[in-house]
Amino acid sequence: MNQQAFPATTTAPDPSARLVLPDGRDVLLPILRGTEGEPAFDITRLREQTGSITFDEGYANTGSCQSNVTYIDGEKGILRYRGYPIEQLAEHSHFVETAYLVIYGELPTRPQRARFSALLTENAHIHERMVYLFESYPRDAHPMALLGAMVNALACYYPHLATNTHFGETDNFDEAAATLISKVRTITAMAYRMSKGLPVIYPKRSLNYCENFLHMMFSDPYEHFECPPVVSRALNLILLLHADHEQNCSTSTVRMVASSGANLFASAASGVCALWGPFHGGANQAVIEMLQAIHDDKDDGTRFVAEAKVGRRRLMGFGHRIYRNYDPRAKIIGKACEELLNELGVKDPLLDIARRLESIALSDPYFVDRKLYPNVDFYSGIILRAIGIPINMFTVMFAIGRMPGWVAHWREVAFAGRPRIYRPRQIYTGPSVRDYLPVDLRE
Ligand code: SDX
Repeated sequence: MNQQAFPATTTAPDPSARLVLPDGRDVLLPILRGTEGEPAFDITRLREQTGSITFDEGYANTGSCQSNVTYIDGEKGILRYRGYPIEQLAEHSHFVETAYLVIYGELPTRPQRARFSALLTENAHIHERMVYLFESYPRDAHPMALLGAMVNALACYYPHLATNTHFGETDNFDEAAATLISKVRTITAMAYRMSKGLPVIYPKRSLNYCENFLHMMFSDPYEHFECPPVVSRALNLILLLHADHEQNCSTSTVRMVASSGANLFASAASGVCALWGPFHGGANQAVIEMLQAIHDDKDDGTRFVAEAKVGRRRLMGFGHRIYRNYDPRAKIIGKACEELLNELGVKDPLLDIARRLESIALSDPYFVDRKLYPNVDFYSGIILRAIGIPINMFTVMFAIGRMPGWVAHWREVAFAGRPRIYRPRQIYTGPSVRDYLPVDLRE
């Protein structure tokens, strides 16, 4: 399954940028251009040439790498996985096929897709001794804490798949990738069942990716959970839409860890930890908690929006560092919400509140001026609720969807021909040099 594994770069015949320094020297900065013509000043040699670094807190203006995986145009609300528009993949593809595309760079042929699916099926079980690991955690441990721990622990139970890379020595990559993407379902379902004191349900070879997950979550030893096709389709869509999103906080973390030569499981576990924060993947849980609070306060959204505008609240699920337009994933999920709830005959008052918040915010200058639109997390919780996923597992569902993206970015770093550890610089603002003070002289 080896496709081209390192990013392509195009250096158009651009004139370089000229940086004029205070002492009159000037430095030429080559201009790199991405596939869609997006320009970047190449400052790889800036410190060597000028003794200076750049400063860009939060990396809002800084490209850390070149990558082939995902393209986003935040102004136009464009998202493509390996060149394919997210709208087309959402309509025609499913999570497993899209996971293959994100990881290997091409839509799979029928035999490739069958082999990848078979690898996922073969690797659905987890090592029986991992059950004891689960037992050692409190029943009410947050599922994201468990997921991060268990993903990292895969290196203990499958050491042959956790070889720290010396760049190029990852011939077991296909099996390691399938193991991670498949087992996160089993780990998640096991965490849920054990938190409820329910017997663990093992995966079934006859079920596809999403059906198997829902079977492990909701079946019981006496009755198989029959997954309605509309629910399987909705879960496939949610996972597919989360599969990758270029250099977001958690994916950049995975690349950072991968650049040290750490194995896939350790890198993915770091992604889980980064994703947990409420400003990132934790937002889908925070959105539902926000909508529930607005509902319980009998607020039609007006009061909440007023508080958000003065910084007392944050409209969770709104805003994005890259999208200064509607997040295309939010559009697709918003539509899928209506379809799923209608087909299930479910009326969710939180969806009505979400719709109302959206219409208030999209006509309010505070949000319009700051280009704050619904993002992927604004509606996804409504679908997860309708499927029966507990709210404290919403971010875990985001992580399951994002695994292919983390695997793809780990692969770009691990397969890079020239290893280069990520090591940003800083502007030091602490005390200047000073001598040690004996304890009796300190006040
Ligand atoms: C994800 O990066 C990715 O690709 C992430 C992701 C992925 O797929 O991996 O897309 C997934 O993480 C989506 C984002 C989920 N998070 C939320 O929904 C949390 C709510 N959103 C915000 O916290 C915020 O919008 C961020 C964190 C998403 C983006 O923050 P930025 O780009 O750092 O923007 P900022 O905090 O500097 O805000 C700029 C202004 C500020 O007001 P002023 O200081 O100019 O007066 O906009 C305001 C902010 O106060 N603002 C909001 C707001 N988001 C920004 N005000 C109210 N509600 C909000 N949600």
